[in-house]
Amino acid sequence: MSKFLSDDASHRLTVGDVAKRSGVAISAVHFYESKGFIKSLRSAGNQRRFSRDVLRRIAVIKVAQRIGISLASIKTALSELPEGRTPTAADWKKLSARWRVELDDRIANLTELREQLTDCIGCGCLSLEACKLRNPLDELSERGSGPRLMRFESQTQNEKE
Ligand code: FES
Repeated sequence: MSKFLSDDASHRLTVGDVAKRSGVAISAVHFYESKGFIKSLRSAGNQRRFSRDVLRRIAVIKVAQRIGISLASIKTALSELPEGRTPTAADWKKLSARWRVELDDRIANLTELREQLTDCIGCGCLSLEACKLRNPLDELSERGSGPRLMRFESQTQNEKE
């Protein structure tokens, strides 16, 4: 939070104004401020006042959250803007293009998981060898081909004997 600028306080927004105009709860405005996404100034009466650009910053945050971008990623993206400025239309084009790629990757991963889950429906084996969801990295294959689990189990049993 910065110090109060006394010149054009009438042009600044209260926390209630920001919440109403951006369509978020007042607690969300406080949260975004506490996390450094937006900044406020202080009035002569020590009340928070926001410049109008916070509305655009909150719009960017809400859209990004809607498509599942983490707050950490949003913060990183916003902090990469020169002097922490509010995203311009050109900035938003770049950010949305980057997040489109992330969204495409997540959709591809979820689609693959859905297909693997479909294989499980009606199965119930939860086998390390057969179930791709149970053994997503196919960890046993790193030990070589063939029935690795059975070899490992018999090797362990031989060591005990
Ligand atoms: S439970 Fe059998 S393949 Fe997943």
